[in-house]
Amino acid sequence: MKVLVIGGGGRESAITYKLHLSKNVSEIYTDSENPYIRRKAEKIDYEDLDDLVMKAHEIGVDITVVGPENPLAEGIVDKFREKKLRIFGADKNSAKLESSKIFAREFIARNELPNHKFEIADTLEQARKKIEKFELPVVIKYGGLAFGKGVYVCFDRKDIEKAFKDIFETKKFGESTEGVVIEEYLEGFEVSLMHFYDGNVLAQMPLSHDYKKALDGDKGPNTGGMGAFSPVRLSNSDIEDLKSLSKKLGKALNRETLNYAGVLYAGLMLTKSGPKILEFNVRFGDPETECILLKLKTDFYEILENCIRGRMDPTSIVWDDRPSMCLVIASKGYPKKYEKGIELENLRELEEKYSDLNIFYSGIMETDSTFVNTGGRVLAVSGIRENKEELIQRIYSFAEELKFRIKYYRKDIGKTEKF
Ligand code: AMP
Ligand code: GLY
Repeated sequence: MKVLVIGGGGRESAITYKLHLSKNVSEIYTDSENPYIRRKAEKIDYEDLDDLVMKAHEIGVDITVVGPENPLAEGIVDKFREKKLRIFGADKNSAKLESSKIFAREFIARNELPNHKFEIADTLEQARKKIEKFELPVVIKYGGLAFGKGVYVCFDRKDIEKAFKDIFETKKFGESTEGVVIEEYLEGFEVSLMHFYDGNVLAQMPLSHDYKKALDGDKGPNTGGMGAFSPVRLSNSDIEDLKSLSKKLGKALNRETLNYAGVLYAGLMLTKSGPKILEFNVRFGDPETECILLKLKTDFYEILENCIRGRMDPTSIVWDDRPSMCLVIASKGYPKKYEKGIELENLRELEEKYSDLNIFYSGIMETDSTFVNTGGRVLAVSGIRENKEELIQRIYSFAEELKFRIKYYRKDIGKTEKF
C-alpha cells in the first residue's frame, strides 16, 4: 500500500517510522524536507493543496495521514474526500474542536462532559466585565488556533492586562475576532489522553504526561511540549473515570455528528474532583506521539485502514506495557527567539552509538556534510525499555553527548509523578 504523510516534524517522523515497519506498506510519500522522513519516504513536490491532491491521485496513494493541525483546520480532509481519496484526519467541521476554543467549551457544556467554570467574551470590554466573576489565578485563552501559545495563566492584574493587550490590542494571534475564553484555574496533574477514532468508536491509547513548560519543575512559558512519558501512574478510580469520560466523549461526538477517521486527543487535568477537560486536539500530540507509538504492537497501517473503513475494534489493538519516553532537544531561547543554522556536529555518530533509541527529527535540515537546526524543537529523542531508570539515563546520556552549541533540554522528564 502507498501512504502519504502530511507534515514534517518529530510527530511525523514517528508516524513514518511506524508505517515503515508495517508489512502492509510498500511506499511512503511525504510533503516535507525532514531528513529523517526523507530516508524512508519519497518527497512529493507540489504548488498548492489542489496540486497535492492531484499528485496523490496520480500516484495512487491508498491512504493519507495528516500530522499537524493547520491543514486539518483549513480543510485538507474535505479536499481529499472530494476526490475520493482516503484520508486519516478530521474534516474541517470536526477540526473546530481544536481550532476554536470557544466551540470546544460549548461542546463540553452542551454534552455535559466534565466541565469547570468558564465565560466567553468577544470584545475587550466584555472580557473586562466577565473576568470580575473569577478569583485569581484565572486562565485567559485566545479563541482561535495559537499553537499552544495563546493561553495565559494569570496570577495577578498585571498578567491579565498583558493577556488582554496581546489578544485585543497588539493582535498577536491575528486580526480575526475569535474572542477569548476565560476559565477557572485548575490544580492537578496534566495528562494527554489520545484515542483512535473511526467515526463511531473511540479506542484509548495509553495515557502520557506531556511536559509543556520550558523550564524544569514546570516553570517558564508554555511550549509545544518539551518531553513526554508514559505510563502515568493512576489510581483505580482515575482509570474508571477515564473510561467513563471516553465513553461520554464518543456519545457526544456521535450526537453532534462529528464523525471522522482520525485521532481525538483530550488534554486533561486530573484534579481532586476527577478529570477535567482543558482542550481537544483532533490529531496526534507532539511529543506524545513519539513516545506512545513506540508502545504500539499492532500494525499501525491496519489501524488507520480500519478507522477509515469505520470498523475499528478497540480490543484488537495491543500495547507494550514497558515505559516509553521522549525528550525534546531544543534550541536555546525556544519558545521565544533562538538562533538558526547551528550545526549538530556529531548527530550521525550518536545515531549509530544509540541505535537502541529512536532519534526522531523535528526542526532539522541536512546540508552537504552535516545537520543544522531550523526550528525551536530540534530532536525528539525517544525510547522504550523494561527499566524506567535505565531508559531515562540512556536518553539523557544521548542528550549530554550531543554537540550542538545552543542545546537546551529539560532535566526532569520522566522524573515527576502525579500529585
Ligand atoms: P490548552 O492549550 O488549552 O491546553 O492550554 C495550554 C496549557 O495551559 C495547558 O496545557 C495547561 O498547562 C494550562 N491550562 C490551560 N487551561 C488551564 C486551566 N483551566 N487551569 C490550569 N491550567 C490551564
Ligand atoms: N503536546 C501537545 C500538543 O500536541 O498539542
